[in-house]
Amino acid sequence: MKRTRTSKGWMREHVNDPYVLLAQKEGYRSRAAYKLMELDERDHLLVAGMAVVDLGAAPGGWTQVLAKRIGKTGTLIAFDILPMDAVHGATVIQGDFREDAALDQLSTALAGKPLDLVVSDMAPNISGIGVADQARSMHLAELALEFSIQHLKPGGNFLVKIFQGDGFDDFVRDARAVFLQVHVRKPKASRDRSTEVYLIGKGMRNSAQ
Ligand SMILES: C[S@@+](CC[C@H](N)C(=O)[O-])C[C@H]1O[C@@H](n2cnc3c(N)ncnc32)[C@H](O)[C@@H]1O
Repeated sequence: MKRTRTSKGWMREHVNDPYVLLAQKEGYRSRAAYKLMELDERDHLLVAGMAVVDLGAAPGGWTQVLAKRIGKTGTLIAFDILPMDAVHGATVIQGDFREDAALDQLSTALAGKPLDLVVSDMAPNISGIGVADQARSMHLAELALEFSIQHLKPGGNFLVKIFQGDGFDDFVRDARAVFLQVHVRKPKASRDRSTEVYLIGKGMRNSAQ
């Protein structure tokens, strides 16, 4: 009974959500697209011709924004554990980012090309057990940071979703050791009741690699 009410409430909120309506109108696959647009407006992350990896890309809202902004001269790889429909201008790879095979697939696709930007909107399926969910999401963020250290150009940028809770302060501290500037942002399109925020690392230090 309670569950039915909750899912009805979620559905009502979803169909009335201005970002859901806007995404439908403007042809974006997810309301998440507006989070990336807003972060980019403030922090100027996206530039034509960039090489970018988009982690946790499905269903592809961020990939659509990235493809548009980096244009034909850019390189874009979209990665997710779930299958995802093609986005013009992006190479889509399916795999589990926690596994070495995924990193091998990404390295092969990059063929040694250094990246200007790594973005990660990865989030695990929520089990409802807060401590376990937090640990799993921090683990994905840490893996994304490690991947960035290995593949970004010196001076490259990083954007990652993280959840406030255990491990958050340590992660911000680790990111400060890697990037010259670190900002934590909560875009308007991110729901207030969610503890999600986005960390932006700008300018990877030469000493990080
Ligand atoms: C919030 S959604 C991303 C939305 C996307 N940025 C967009 O704009 O459409 C989070 C994604 O992280 C992916 N994900 C979760 N765990 C993953 C893993 N271990 N490896 C790869 N992707 C993962 C999920 O499958 C999901 O598609």
